[in-house]
Parts: sequence; structure tokens; C-alpha cells
Amino acid sequence: MVKYICRKPGKKSVRIILRDSKIISSSYSREYSFVFKRGKGMHLWDVDNRKYLDFAASVAVNSVGHCNNDVINAVKKQLNYGLHCAFPDFYAELPVLFVENLLKFVPKHLNNAFLSNSGTESVECALKLAKWHTNKKWLIAFNPCFHGRSMGSLSMTNSKPVQRERFAPFLPVRHVPYPYPYRSKFHDEDDLSNYCLKVLEKNVKDLRKDLAGIFFEPISGEGGYIVPPKSFVKGLKEICDKYNVLLCDDEVQSGCYRTGKFLAIENFNVKADIVCLSKAIGGGVPLGVTLANKKTMNWVPGSQSNTFGGNLLACAGGIATLNYIKKHRLGENAVKIGNYMLKRLNEMKEKYEIIGDVRGIGLMIGVEIVKNKHTKEYGIKERNNILCRANEKGLILIPAGKSVIRICPPLIINKRQADNGLDIFEDAVKDTIKK
Ligand SMILES: Cc1ncc(COP(=O)(O)O)c(C=O)c1O
Repeated sequence: MVKYICRKPGKKSVRIILRDSKIISSSYSREYSFVFKRGKGMHLWDVDNRKYLDFAASVAVNSVGHCNNDVINAVKKQLNYGLHCAFPDFYAELPVLFVENLLKFVPKHLNNAFLSNSGTESVECALKLAKWHTNKKWLIAFNPCFHGRSMGSLSMTNSKPVQRERFAPFLPVRHVPYPYPYRSKFHDEDDLSNYCLKVLEKNVKDLRKDLAGIFFEPISGEGGYIVPPKSFVKGLKEICDKYNVLLCDDEVQSGCYRTGKFLAIENFNVKADIVCLSKAIGGGVPLGVTLANKKTMNWVPGSQSNTFGGNLLACAGGIATLNYIKKHRLGENAVKIGNYMLKRLNEMKEKYEIIGDVRGIGLMIGVEIVKNKHTKEYGIKERNNILCRANEKGLILIPAGKSVIRICPPLIINKRQADNGLDIFEDAVKDTIKK
């Protein structure tokens, strides 16, 4: 017997879910019994031809929309010349062109790139680079944080217990508190920043002789779409400078204009030493990038490499994605529509007892669901019910943190689509309250 999640799937979906349950690893935790058939722009269809509006962008990947013609045509064109060329072992122009393009979008000091295929690989490369460059072994990461699931990145990931259970021993990593304004005991955000910075500085001092880097998400993604106070990010950079520690910025989820700026850390006017990108950068084709200054990325041949880095289809997709994002000013759209959605969601917060907090920058928006605004008790059941009701009504949303709903639609979204999705979301909240 297969257990269905949320909306009862149609006949074709049921058959595929059954086949899947027999042979696919049980470690995947699916959000819905949604079986993908095709996508176009802001919409998805399942194999039973049910249509959905997508507020998840396949977890912040499809920023340029599903089946973007420019990306598809670039990949198709490349298919005529070659799929893979072993770029780590030989030379090719396309990966160089991709990186030349990418460097135009990021702060000038980031002028060297290592190419890979996923978020965890871009983080793995960043942590190896931090160790290699400093010849030190400790790392600092935050609580909560998510940096991936391979053993290096998992050593830092600290979001849900199940992600780490039974996988010890880990690399030497100290976890320090990430500022969570909504759940802080301090009334003033600066007091919260000062507290977190004090704990951080104490740990940096303890480890300073052997500390390679501090890994940081400018908005905590999987941890609950938590936006840290500006004073915290500024203080973090000051500590890195004071103790000469590398600031490693994980932009896997927040990067590529999701927050209006190419890198989310730019919203805080802070520059990082090493930057990790993936998810949206390939427009749906698997691609990971680690960026640093040439003086930081000074390791020797053989110290880091892979098989698929610089894959030709990925680079063709990456170039087309960057061109599309620029041509259609998706960063500006993220701010415009993001602000509009934040305004509507804040109005809902005033109306409904179970919406505890609304936060975000651009189109990286978190809505924290509580049982009661006063006690702020996590509304886990309520959150899950909203996700299911929304799904039944044709909207794809995904969870984050303990009781947060994340809203991260493709950056091509327009106001009408934003309104349609938010109307469904509001109905789902009303249904949940009635229950
Ligand atoms: C901030 C961040 N870093 C790293 C990762 C890992 O990326 P991947 O799943 O592609 O390995 C994720 C994935 O959600 C992420 O959100």
C-alpha cells in the first residue's frame, strides 16, 4: 500500500507512485503525491493532466520559468557539437565563456571559478578551498543552517536531526546561533545581533589558531527563510576581517537575483571571500559554481577536480539563463512582485491568528505558522494542512524550518499570477482555521 500525501492522486499518478515505492530509495521525503508530466512558465501539469501554479520553482531552481525557450534552444544547439568534453582534463571555450559571463554579475574581487554539478559540491569545494588556502582545519557554521548532504557539507548542515542522525563522525565544525528575530528573547534586533556576535567572536577566538572559515547563508533557507538583522551581517564581516578568517557565503538558494541582487549578501553591503552558487544558475540543468579571488583560489593542480565540472550542456544552459535574467530584468521583477506579495501577506497576518510572521527579501519569502500569535507555539499541523489545502486547490508550495511555508516562485512571475496564488493561499489558511 502506498501512502498518499495531500491530494489523492489520479490513476496514472497512482501507478507511477507504486512503481517508485518499490525501487527508489526511501530516503527521499516527498512533499506531495505530485507526479510531474511537464512544465511551462509558471505552471506545472501532473501525469493526470492536473494543472498547478508553481510557488516553489522546483526548490528555487527554475527561476527563468519551466521549459524556458532560450535555455532549451541553447542546450539543443549544444547537443549538435557534444554533450561532455572532460573539461577538467582538457580545454573548451564554452565553460570559459560561461564563467566570463558570470563574473560580470558578481563583485569584482570574485574573479576565479571552480565548476561542479550541484549545491553540495559547490560547498564541498568551498570548504576544501578554505582549508587548503589557510592550511587550517576548523570551520564555524550556524544553527540552523543547511549546506548540503555530502559528508563535508553535512558536517556543517544543522537543520533537522534526521539529516545528521547516524552519520557521525563529522569534520571539525562549531555551530553558533543564527539570529532569528521572530523567535528572539530580545525586543531589539541590535541586541539580538550583539548577542549572536558575542557567541561567534568567543568561538572564533577559541579556534583562531586553527580556523579555516565561517560558512553563512545570507538568508537561512531550509532553516526557515530567516532574514538576519543587517547589523549582524555587518558584525560577522568585521569579525572575519579582525581575525583574518575566510567568510564563505552559501548562495545556493538565495543567489541569482532571488532577492533582487545577484547575491543576497549584497543586500547587506558585505563582501564574502568564497561564494557558492547552484540551483538557479543552470536554468534547470545541474550546475554548481564556487567563486573566489585568484589569490584565495591558489591551490595546486590536482588538489581539487571532478569529472563533470564544465559539462557542456550545463554551461550552455548557464549562459542562456544569465542572458535571460539580464535581458528580462528578473532581479527588478523579484523586488517589485516580492514587495507586493510581502504587503498582501502582511495584511493576511493582521487578519489571521495562525500567521505569526511574514519575512523575506525579493521572492524569497517565509510565512511562519503558529497555533497562537501570543504563545508563538509552532503550528506544524496547521502548516501542513495549509500546504495540503493549497495543493488541492492547484498551488505548489513547500515547507521550511519547523512550521514555515516558503514562497520562492520562478522570478518571471507577474502580479496576476502572484494574486492567483495568494488567493489560493488565503483560502487554504481560512480552511485550516475552520478545521
Ligand atoms: C543553502 C544551500 N546550500 C546547499 C544546498 C545543497 O544543494 P544540493 O541539494 O544541490 O546538493 C542547498 C539545497 O537546498 C541549499 O539550500
